Amino acid sequence: MELQREQWKSQLGFVFAAVGSAVGLGNIWRFSYMAYSHGGGAFLIPYIIALLSAGIPLLILEFALGHERMGSAPLAFAKINKNWEWLGWWAVIFVMFGIVLYYSVIIAWCLNFFFLSFYLGWGDDPNAFFFNEFLAVSKSPFEIGHIRTPILVSLSIVWLINWGIVFRGVRRGIEYINKIFMPLLFFLTAVLVLWSISLEGSMIGLRAYLEPDFSKLSDPTVWIDAYSQIFFTLSLGFGIMIAYASYLPGKANITKNAIVIVFINSGYSLFAGIAVFSVLGFMATSQGKPISEVVSQSIGLAFVAYPKAVSLIPGGNLFGAIFFLCLVVAGLSSSISIVEAFISATVDKFGFRRKPLITLVTILGFLGSTIFTTQAGLLWLDIADHFITHYGLIVVGIAECLLVGWLFNIKVLRKHVNSISSIRLGYWWDITIKYFVPFVLGVILIGELYAEIKQPYGGYSWTSLILIGWNWILLTVIAAVVFARRPWRTRYYEMEGRSQKTGGIL
Ligand code: ALA
Repeated sequence: MELQREQWKSQLGFVFAAVGSAVGLGNIWRFSYMAYSHGGGAFLIPYIIALLSAGIPLLILEFALGHERMGSAPLAFAKINKNWEWLGWWAVIFVMFGIVLYYSVIIAWCLNFFFLSFYLGWGDDPNAFFFNEFLAVSKSPFEIGHIRTPILVSLSIVWLINWGIVFRGVRRGIEYINKIFMPLLFFLTAVLVLWSISLEGSMIGLRAYLEPDFSKLSDPTVWIDAYSQIFFTLSLGFGIMIAYASYLPGKANITKNAIVIVFINSGYSLFAGIAVFSVLGFMATSQGKPISEVVSQSIGLAFVAYPKAVSLIPGGNLFGAIFFLCLVVAGLSSSISIVEAFISATVDKFGFRRKPLITLVTILGFLGSTIFTTQAGLLWLDIADHFITHYGLIVVGIAECLLVGWLFNIKVLRKHVNSISSIRLGYWWDITIKYFVPFVLGVILIGELYAEIKQPYGGYSWTSLILIGWNWILLTVIAAVVFARRPWRTRYYEMEGRSQKTGGIL
């Protein structure tokens, strides 16, 4: 069966969509709690180093792969080496049946908090409210308890929106909505930043945020978190950027687009961090505590610190609503990209009709997400996020480099990029992809495994880490291998790469 590949209406539309995917909960919720738990400014140096050393070269690689091989992740990998098709499947499966399941639940929390903001529904103690009342967190991951109805209701709205956008297609759905969502998000964030820096004590927060602490650089976990944050924030290893680049027309300015996207994405994180840390400074001043003691659990930072500040200031509820609306908008534009990466891969291989497939995948996604709406949801989320982002994304990153660097002629990809881009890639890029990135990521992975064995992550029991974390990895690998072994039902696989004439496939 032959299929027509969808295309972005314009390159600007592609940039909006890729920024939409990159800018997400990771930039506000995850980035700020990572920075907070690593003592603020200490995190920025490894973050920037990780961005330059791995983020940019890999984003260019993913764009180049999707564009030159003209396919979603499994197709692009299969067209390099059939034995590696499973890796592409693994990426899109663990994001679709892993990351987006809990990601959509966090968006649902934000939606709940958006409504709560109007009447300060968290009461006098947002910390107790968030953990004990709203999530009603159980004591162990195996004490599932019951589903939290308010979260379930918001979750169904989130999945309905995901469905509605992806259903309308690449151009009329994803491209269109991001052209509205992104300017809206940037405007709302600017309002928020201006408000938060006007709060008393904001400068204390900003100092903690921006003052580098070189002593922390010797702590390997800061580096590991910085690299995994770069993967998460740029949607690398998700299979998304590969699929998005495959919808570009033949002539597309790959390097320039990649740099613009990286710049906007990290600029946005740093900018949104100002809003979060100013509020932390305000909290510290009003409570007479040091910043490091303002929030008890950093994962709940956005849901505790902001509500606290909002309650203390007259008219603050409007800004609370804006803050959570930002999270919802940022989250949705990323969650749709995850769904699209999986849909794109499945359509490429099996030739299914998009619309019924999207409906089916949405239903499965919604059902899978419900585990995170239970009382054990936060614990499951913490474990799943740790394993998938630390192992899944990083392993895909390493494998991508090895695959392109060693089993394919990387020069072909570079030549392809240079023939259509305004900023030319030098030989340095080949070296970075072939040696440097896999080496750094490999060291990080080994360090991480070592830390994992020495001390179980997050103080959880071995049983829960094995049954939830490792099992998730294992099951998604098995599913990926099964998908990869199915025969191709479309002719995409036989199509030549875009640079075939210059000697694409080895
Ligand atoms: N890149 C997305 C985020 O940062 C997944 O939230």
